[in-house]
Amino acid sequence: MDGRGWPSPRGWRHRSRFLCRLATRDLRVCILRRVDDLKGKVALVTGSSRGIGRAIAIALGEAGADVVVNFLRRAAEAQAVESEIRQFDRRCFNIQANVSSASDVERLVRECEERLGAIDILVNNAGISRPQKMEEISERDWDDVVAHNLKSCFLVTQAVLPGMRARHWGRVVNLSSVAAQVGGVVGPHYAASKAGMLGLTHYYAARLAKEGVTVNAIAPALIETEMVLSNPNARRENIPVCRFGLPEEVAQVAVMLVRNGYMTGQTVNVNGGWFMS
Ligand SMILES: NC(=O)c1ccc[n+]([C@@H]2O[C@H](COP(=O)([O-])OP(=O)(O)OC[C@H]3O[C@@H](n4cnc5c(N)ncnc54)[C@H](OP(=O)(O)O)[C@@H]3O)[C@@H](O)[C@H]2O)c1
Repeated sequence: MDGRGWPSPRGWRHRSRFLCRLATRDLRVCILRRVDDLKGKVALVTGSSRGIGRAIAIALGEAGADVVVNFLRRAAEAQAVESEIRQFDRRCFNIQANVSSASDVERLVRECEERLGAIDILVNNAGISRPQKMEEISERDWDDVVAHNLKSCFLVTQAVLPGMRARHWGRVVNLSSVAAQVGGVVGPHYAASKAGMLGLTHYYAARLAKEGVTVNAIAPALIETEMVLSNPNARRENIPVCRFGLPEEVAQVAVMLVRNGYMTGQTVNVNGGWFMS
């Protein structure tokens, strides 16, 4: 202190460093803020009656979002997910729609918007796997797998993007697979459909980066769901961490991608170390 009670130059430096640290801490607190920071956002998670989609829908609901649960056939399971999300005091509906059909997608998005408002967060999760030997795959098998996994991603994104672009805010998360990177244990039709999702991700991310819309992919491997448990070629020994992953471990990454406005065009690997980038 000088004679007038003012801090010395060293004291000022000390103080400004202290204030700077305080501001940085506040920023960190802001960035890392959890609980319900997605409050007011509307999320559509395709294929969320079970498995990974279910875990993502619940995690988004827990993080504050209102959620539309989509399913193909299992209405009771979709209803159970809806009830679970409503326990967080969120608005939530389940809607049956085959996302590989353009008319169903049009109805799905219209109903979402009528019931909850414009869609801010889209998780393209719906998909099928049809484990087959490569020599046994028919044209019909190829068309089915590509339609459910890849065409669906295009159709729903196409329907939802105009609203996101108009509002200058949007998050798209695409569920690809380690199969896009290493071939995997299902078949070439599945691997190609999942690699196609990475192409869609890169195209949209590059074009939409300036418009407040991020588009990312997750490439999981051997997550403990019906898809994996029903595939005789899926073995824990394939995985360096020696276990199947949990749907909740994928959901954590999906929520991170939704919260983060600086990640776009990326593929996040959640694969127990099977493929290392
Ligand atoms: N599990 C893994 O290890 C793994 C690894 C890599 C990538 N993935 C990808 O992650 C996503 C989820 O996998 P999962 O293991 O959770 O699968 P899952 O347990 O088989 O669940 C699939 C979900 O997708 C829905 N679905 C399928 N086709 C649909 C369509 N045309 N329209 C609407 N909904 C449809 C199903 O609805 P219903 O319940 O009504 O049938 C169900 O909710 C898939 O895209 C999958 O390819 C999974």
